[in-house]
Amino acid sequence: MIPHLWGIYRERQHSPGREFDDAEILRLVAKHVEAAGYQVHLKMPEELRGIDDPSPALIFLMCERIETLGLLEPLETKGIPHVNPLQAVLNTYRDRMIPLLVGSAISIPRSQIISSNSSGPAHSSPQLESYTFPIWIKRADVHNTQSGDVELVPSLEQLRAALAVLHDRGISRVVLQQHVPGDLIKFYGIGKPRMGRQEGAWFRWFYHRDQELARYPFSEEALQALTQQAAAAIGLEVYGGDAIITPAGKIVLIDINAWPSFALFREEAASRIAAWLLHCVRKEALL
Ligand SMILES: Nc1ncnc2c1ncn2[C@@H]1O[C@H](COP(=O)(O)OP(=O)(O)O)[C@@H](O)[C@H]1O
Ligand SMILES: [Mg+2]
Repeated sequence: MIPHLWGIYRERQHSPGREFDDAEILRLVAKHVEAAGYQVHLKMPEELRGIDDPSPALIFLMCERIETLGLLEPLETKGIPHVNPLQAVLNTYRDRMIPLLVGSAISIPRSQIISSNSSGPAHSSPQLESYTFPIWIKRADVHNTQSGDVELVPSLEQLRAALAVLHDRGISRVVLQQHVPGDLIKFYGIGKPRMGRQEGAWFRWFYHRDQELARYPFSEEALQALTQQAAAAIGLEVYGGDAIITPAGKIVLIDINAWPSFALFREEAASRIAAWLLHCVRKEALL
């Protein structure tokens, strides 16, 4: 029997404005994997309920909801490799990501995870006053799924208002994060650097459009090393994210996500991801 792999699409609610790009990278990866002689079954997250399918050799996934990851858990426990590993996807939830990055000494903006219930006058805790505005307020669990999930607030009053809105939406925990001025960079990575060496892992970066670029000088090697360290801390093998280059040339990591759409590099990324998946499948077959 031809070994087969599963690919799981991202939940639609988690791809606001990127539905096509997110689906397209998964489809392209599947094409490359099929061209190497494997079968691929692409599935929507809701199709994972009650599945009765012979064990796939590997599962690659863009889904990220806790419920969906829970449906895959028995398969990962059974020993079927997942890219990204389920734990790594959970680790991108901000309330896990921030402590993991801090614990690995990755440079991130000053961040604090607080209850969204801190908005009332009774809770006008000094921690809120201690920030220099503007600051970012972000829901502490999943990444941006709708407007208001990630917002720059200019003052304490507006911070309190934003906290109240998130609280009313049922989002109990939020991250407050210092704003870091500078050039905004987007990065992508695939694979793991072999034995600490950077070759073997794919890495690209570009300046985010829609910004007034200052082009502060910085070390590309340092950016690559930082993003790969962050991916290792989270456990990611296919990832993307955001970083700021400060006027002093310091690189500050803002965000790291599992399996982005790779939109600007779709063709190249799809073939590199497929190569990584095949590497994982063949390694498994040798064990
Ligand atoms: N601390 C920060 N300093 C500067 N810009 C930020 C900061 N946090 C977020 N941003 C800006 O907001 C965007 C979205 O924030 P991010 O944490 O990446 O959330 P998400 O990707 O879930 O929307 C970033 O790409 C960046 O432009
Ligand atoms: Mg981001």
